Amino acid sequence: MIDMIRKAAIDDIPQIVQLEDACFPVPWPDFLFRAHLGNPGFVVYEKEGEILAYAIIGDSDGKAHLQNIAVHPDLRRQGIGTELLEWCIDLVKLCGYKEMVLEVREKNTGSQAFYADRGFEIRDNVKAYYPDDNAIVMGKRI
Ligand SMILES: CC(C)(COP(=O)(O)OP(=O)(O)OC[C@H]1O[C@@H](n2cnc3c(N)ncnc32)[C@H](O)[C@@H]1OP(=O)(O)O)[C@@H](O)C(=O)NCCC(=O)NCCS
Repeated sequence: MIDMIRKAAIDDIPQIVQLEDACFPVPWPDFLFRAHLGNPGFVVYEKEGEILAYAIIGDSDGKAHLQNIAVHPDLRRQGIGTELLEWCIDLVKLCGYKEMVLEVREKNTGSQAFYADRGFEIRDNVKAYYPDDNAIVMGKRI
């Protein structure tokens, strides 16, 4: 069995969009993922040709910004999200980043617990950040 985390490629987009649709109430559209192709922080977790998870990190005011992370709904709580997050943290540390920030839906208490258990602290609450919810801003020194 081959598991690997690698940069996303154009052929991955249909699987990523399918996963996104299964994971979020207001999913990112296809074109937004395509716009991130070429970003070294757009990565997928692949096993035997299947995309099980993906993440996108960018820059926000000199901080590493985790813009998106999702694991296949049937494969959660098996350590894949942690492995991918840690891989992303190692990548941005190599680029010199000292801090990672992210937004998460206020209603998404499961993901907030995931981040809190991995050392992220609540920094802010942004009203109506999402079309359907407020955002909790979380951050961590890395
Ligand atoms: C958040 C997410 C990426 C975590 O991925 P994962 O592969 O399930 O995470 P891991 O298996 O590495 O870690 C699981 C740990 O995170 C925490 N956790 C994850 N989901 C949780 C939940 N629903 N409730 C409480 N704690 C949770 C727990 O500490 C858990 O450990 P445990 O299973 O031993 O209790 C995944 O739940 C997901 O894709 N969610 C939907 C998309 C999403 O909301 N992304 C975040 C957007 S900001």
